[in-house]
Amino acid sequence: MTTTTMSYFDTARERLAALQERGKATVLSIETSCDETAAALVKNGRQVLSNAVYTQIPIHRRFGGVVPELASRNHVDQVGPVVESALTDAGLTLEDVDAIAVTGGPGLVGALLVGVSYAKGLAFATGKPLVNTHHILGHIAANYLTFSDLVPPFTCLVASGGHSHIIEVSDYDRCLLLGRTRDDAAGEAYDKVARVLELPYPGGPELEKLAQGGDPHAIRFHSAFNEGEGFDMSFSGLKTAVINHLSNARQRGETVDRADVAASFQYAVNTILSDKAVRAAQQNGHGVLALAGGVSANKNLRQMLAEKAARRGIRFCCPDFKYCTDNGAMIGSAAFYLLMKGHIADLSFNAVPYLPIA
Ligand code: KG4
Ligand code: ZN
Repeated sequence: MTTTTMSYFDTARERLAALQERGKATVLSIETSCDETAAALVKNGRQVLSNAVYTQIPIHRRFGGVVPELASRNHVDQVGPVVESALTDAGLTLEDVDAIAVTGGPGLVGALLVGVSYAKGLAFATGKPLVNTHHILGHIAANYLTFSDLVPPFTCLVASGGHSHIIEVSDYDRCLLLGRTRDDAAGEAYDKVARVLELPYPGGPELEKLAQGGDPHAIRFHSAFNEGEGFDMSFSGLKTAVINHLSNARQRGETVDRADVAASFQYAVNTILSDKAVRAAQQNGHGVLALAGGVSANKNLRQMLAEKAARRGIRFCCPDFKYCTDNGAMIGSAAFYLLMKGHIADLSFNAVPYLPIA
């Protein structure tokens, strides 16, 4: 570490100590892990002052998925204006910010690096503490923004484009991994099946719309792996089952009801996720199950979890729709608690594409 960066870290540590003593902080958070350039101002982990999101979805749609190189370039163009918007929307300036937070991983490495470099620059220029925040801790924290009384410990089902985890959130900075997908993430399976059904990117929400007009019991998409008592899951078999169903029908010259396929696939995925998550919550005994990640926007999944949890006397929490998919506010909330526990970064950390949660 150079003398200059040492002196940055000394200043940041002094400021951290003052913030910890006060127990209060306004955090400027930056999120660029995938295809949303996002920044937010969050006060004391729970109060969102602004939440600016620039979505790249229209840019990637014609390619049917996220093109990493394009994502990085667009983050470079947008990160400055999005941070400016977040400050303006909150009616604040950099002077009013107590700490800077950024998603350090997991995600697309080139995309992450844009946010990480920008946040490092801001922190160095202002001497403010910098919080390297795990993307999944952010998704979990979306629940803190929605339920002001929610505190760890609780069980959380994280289902996004890159992750399907069942986690025990023991504390704001401590997670125990109870189960995970062995292959595709739930959101990834939604996206791949949506593509087979010729729906535009991102497929999850489109598939949900198509499923509304279909019968969830029309076709039984089954995956033997998920019948076990463990909390690990598998979704690639379901995806293959859909592909086989469609190609068999084509070979027989039969027409397929796409809405029935979508509804039956959605039912199969959501049944696995909800059965396992509710059983984990029951075993953990904390009495609370939360849902997080982009797939938490799926209304059928929310409803299944709510019903199954209620039957077992478990409280069910899921984020407000605006905090389900990637955003800066969730990172600002998670970062506040990391900050209060003294987790600040020096300027030597790097973006990590595969970063374990536990
Ligand atoms: O958390 P997120 O915004 O990005 C990652 O961290 O991956 O999640 C995006 C994923 C995509 O796979 C998208 O298709 C899925 O979440 N998704 C949905 C819905 N909304 C987003 N999947 C099913 N139903 C939805 N309504
Ligand atoms: Zn995400």
